[in-house]
Amino acid sequence: MSLLFEMHDVEKSYAVGHGPRTSLFGRRAPRRLKALDGVRLDIAAGDSVALVGESGSGKSTLVRLMLGLEPPSDGRLRYRQAEFGTLDAAGRQRFAREVAFIYQNARGSMNPRLRVRDILIEPLRLYKICPPADEAARVAALLQRVGLSAALADRFPAELSGGQVRRVAVARALAGEPTTLVADESVAGLDVSVQAQLLNLLRDLCRDMGLTLVFITHDLGVASYLCQRVAVMYLGRIVEEGPTAEVMARPLHPYTRALMQAFPSFERPLKASLAGEIPSPIDLPQGCRFASRCPDVRAACRLEDPVLTRRTDADTRTVACLFPLND
Ligand SMILES: Nc1ncnc2c1ncn2[C@@H]1O[C@H](COP(=O)(O)OP(=O)(O)OP(=O)(O)O)[C@@H](O)[C@H]1O
Ligand SMILES: [Mg+2]
Repeated sequence: MSLLFEMHDVEKSYAVGHGPRTSLFGRRAPRRLKALDGVRLDIAAGDSVALVGESGSGKSTLVRLMLGLEPPSDGRLRYRQAEFGTLDAAGRQRFAREVAFIYQNARGSMNPRLRVRDILIEPLRLYKICPPADEAARVAALLQRVGLSAALADRFPAELSGGQVRRVAVARALAGEPTTLVADESVAGLDVSVQAQLLNLLRDLCRDMGLTLVFITHDLGVASYLCQRVAVMYLGRIVEEGPTAEVMARPLHPYTRALMQAFPSFERPLKASLAGEIPSPIDLPQGCRFASRCPDVRAACRLEDPVLTRRTDADTRTVACLFPLND
């Protein structure tokens, strides 16, 4: 199994103004927000991985780094064994074609003045997928592939429903014949039945075309439906990672358990959400970043920052907790 993405202690911080003056003439120290703080994750070809975490946990930032849209502040990020910064123009073009991205805001990612046909033709020409004479047939095939009628090619994005727009976004992502699909919150804000249709579409595409999938969501239920592996993020770090079925059946991190209790199901009423406030990524507390909200917190948790580790060599899962659940 070949590794596509390797992330080792990836950090990303942003300058966000200055701290308070410490003396009358003292300089105000620049403040930095740590959007990612030591992310470790490997993604192999054929994997389907869900990045799950609440708003602000750093999911979209991680994806921007994975796509090479921004450089990491620290750490190592490689694609097919090559550091991102070292890719030449040809390597970058190949990467852009292999790894297709579906934006968090599908409608906003489309040029409102282009018809669906032209939105889909753009990548066909960019990556020289087919001769101009075959473009119309390609567009029709792409629309059919995502369950839309060929007649929609004449419409503008504003003339499509939320579900249709996301299908067009999927079709555009498939146009370059990628090997990997990265989708940021692709089903959020849709009604349940449209969401289910889109999830089925993505699942079928991955199965039929052998695509690698990186799916970003704040919904653990969606993650478990679509992805074989799940990585749970909290405040810029992955706190638990492993096969979805195992993580869902037996969460090791108290945050994963809290996320599971927070998503509604018909059998189980919604439990009270997490106590306490999520700490600011500007002034992270010492020790475990989840300590301020953890129901099982102990004294050691406020002192030592746990790293993401495998508990035994045979373990398929990793967890960043000094006192994992179910141990
Ligand atoms: N360019 C930037 N400058 C400053 N702070 C940023 C920047 N981009 C992201 N952040 C901060 O980094 C943190 C992580 O943001 P990110 O968008 O990655 O979260 P997310 O998990 O995708 O959230 P959501 O579920 O709401 O999309 C947030 O605190 C955000 O405010
Ligand atoms: Mg996001």
